[in-house]
Amino acid sequence: MQTPVPGYLAELLESCDGDSSGEPAAYIPELARADVSLFGVAVAAPDGVVYAAGDADVPFTIQSISKPFAYALALQDRGCDFILSKVGTEPSGDAFNMISLESGTGRPRNPMINIGAITTHALTGDPSMDPQQRFERVRDGLSAFAGRRLEVDEAVFDSEMSTADRNRSLAFMVRSYGIIDSDPIEAVHGYTRQCSLLVTAKDLAVMGATLANAGVNPLTGERVVDQAVVRQVLSVMLTCGMYDAAGDWVTTVGIPAKSGVAGGILGALPGQVGIGAFSPPLDEFGNSVRGVQVCQRLSGDMGLHLM
Ligand code: DON
Repeated sequence: MQTPVPGYLAELLESCDGDSSGEPAAYIPELARADVSLFGVAVAAPDGVVYAAGDADVPFTIQSISKPFAYALALQDRGCDFILSKVGTEPSGDAFNMISLESGTGRPRNPMINIGAITTHALTGDPSMDPQQRFERVRDGLSAFAGRRLEVDEAVFDSEMSTADRNRSLAFMVRSYGIIDSDPIEAVHGYTRQCSLLVTAKDLAVMGATLANAGVNPLTGERVVDQAVVRQVLSVMLTCGMYDAAGDWVTTVGIPAKSGVAGGILGALPGQVGIGAFSPPLDEFGNSVRGVQVCQRLSGDMGLHLM
């Protein structure tokens, strides 16, 4: 990777700032109030140096970007074979909130869609943990990826819980297939708190750099998960991380990534770099409009595409 020269990231943001299309997510009322002018980007190099421009220190909720990290923790805690018996790895071809279950087994199709992520949350930690201990395991794990303690945005959490009936029904579906045996209501409570953790674009860059660095946080030096876990997570991010825009993303940006409905995008290029972008307006797939643009340009300018 080339090191970004001073001023490059600011110029990059400016060049992508013209597109005012897209809307913030409306199905979580608190997110609909987001400031649409916010726009930030950060890049973390393997030596832990973080380059940033724009609103890269503004906190927002991690939402679906938490999913690959909770998946990593579940793989680390319970083993790959067990987690694979519960959650698949195939793109669903459906929106992120659909009942995308494999026929026959009832396994959610992948851990990046809601039904798979609620399942993954319920399978993190030790089976004997109560829901509070399980959430703390997830919070501690995501904090280790970020290199600082992450806090819950209680207003966003309350707001999403007031409109979470679809997620509750997804959780009841997976329990009806025997995929989880814990209380579905508790699983959605923990999953929603996980999605309500506050991060910045800089945090996302460091979390991505920890994946890019084979599971070792470049800021703290802590090994968060094993290298084999990272390989599994990055593979699923590449095929399923950007939902129905995954094909466009892989051809134009070409790095494993995950988006969230608060407007964040995280990218991780193995051995090279972690990227965090943030801008609340979303496209029809639920991906940040300007976040996608900034990643496309960054990938082209810095030669990040995998192929
Ligand atoms: O469960 C939900 O619907 C949200 N907490 C997360 C969805 C999300 O971020 C989808 N990503 N683009």
